[in-house]
Amino acid sequence: MNNFVFYSPTEFVFGKDTEAQTGSLVRKYGGTRVMIVYGGGSVQRSGLLARIEESLQAAGVTYCELGGVQPNPTEPKVYEGIRLCREQGVDMLLAVGGGSVIDTAKSIAVGALYEGDFWDFYIGKASITKALKVGVVLTIPAAGSEGSGNAVITHSVTLQKLGIRAPEVLRPVFAVMNPELTYTLPAYQTASGIADMMVHIMERYFTNTEGVEVSDRLCEGTLVAIIKEAYRLKANPNDYDARANIMWCGTIAHNGTCGVGREEDWASHFLEHEVSALYDVTHGAGLAVIVPAWMAFVAERNPKKVAQFAHRVFGVPQSDDLLEMALSGVSQLKFFFRYIGLPVSFKELGIEQPDIDTLVANLHRNKGLTVGSYVKLTSADTEEIYRMAL
Ligand code: NZQ
Ligand code: ZN
Repeated sequence: MNNFVFYSPTEFVFGKDTEAQTGSLVRKYGGTRVMIVYGGGSVQRSGLLARIEESLQAAGVTYCELGGVQPNPTEPKVYEGIRLCREQGVDMLLAVGGGSVIDTAKSIAVGALYEGDFWDFYIGKASITKALKVGVVLTIPAAGSEGSGNAVITHSVTLQKLGIRAPEVLRPVFAVMNPELTYTLPAYQTASGIADMMVHIMERYFTNTEGVEVSDRLCEGTLVAIIKEAYRLKANPNDYDARANIMWCGTIAHNGTCGVGREEDWASHFLEHEVSALYDVTHGAGLAVIVPAWMAFVAERNPKKVAQFAHRVFGVPQSDDLLEMALSGVSQLKFFFRYIGLPVSFKELGIEQPDIDTLVANLHRNKGLTVGSYVKLTSADTEEIYRMAL
């Protein structure tokens, strides 16, 4: 196991009606004037936004609002938020929504305290040392941004979908998580969120670092639980316990616990980010297309861990033929994604003829000559993986 630092100060307030505590949580973390950030309207339709406003008023917290954040969020909304923050003397961001909303809020939080362009942080021109505090009311279990020190923004002009990472600064101070808020999710968003959280675990699981039995078992156990709960949700989307387990898995998958002490991979995410940057598809659905292709490709070159995954997560019988075991695991994963309603090829994703040359060129422009670590992928490899996903 490798040395590591794990710092995860977020207070998670989980369960029914917990959004009523939002105002007092803002107070607890020193917020007096917040900016509520939200998406394209689901929080207004569900009445959640009104309940949050009520809770802030009851706690004596004043607020302004920034709505209209779109999935795969882009930089104009961040600039708008930074301006508003400064004009209104905002001292805390309150993200009410999913990864797109939270990541926009995190970007505003770093940008508001920086004299230059916030995009500097994304292109490595500046490093993050401070930010306004961010609190979260989560409405979709998927990106894990409620517990992560990361944010992802797409630049609408250059079509670069890039991330920042600063766990000491960017992890939200609190995250309110009421599973009942997720009943209104469209089935496709629920399924895409499930794929995203599974892949957050896999990016950490597929490693060549030895001696990581505890985090291996944590990864495998959480994946098994997600699959089981996903089947229950498919049968009954209003099953509270299934919603609750899925919601908590989304956080565990990406708050860092599953990755401590091991080299992580992240090639599948980098491959997918180019797809959602270019075609604006739902991130989790893009991953359901990319990951089986990636896994089949790496199984041919390094089957050991893929075979272990196949056996321990999908119950594939053990055999001396690791490649056969591994490929059987890939088939099971594809079957599962399809069963919950996700595409597993570009065609099923609605992209008949993806521009693979551009995807590969952008990927290696953004991420360097090779990506991933379980198997280091060159541009010839990533091109083949995109082709395998057709
Ligand atoms: O905008 P509204 O109207 O709220 O609708 C949203 C949106 O259309 C809807 N939705 C959310 N909660 C709902 C709901 N609809 C009904 N009822 C509810 N309770 O769901 C749609 C998707 O929302 P979004 O925030 O985009 O989803 P997600 O959480 O999957 O976030 C995706 C973004 O996060 C990035 C992705 O790349 C993508 O840009 N990621 C962020 C990460 C991080 N910060 O650590 C890591 C991830 O790997 C990922 O890259
Ligand atoms: Zn993801």
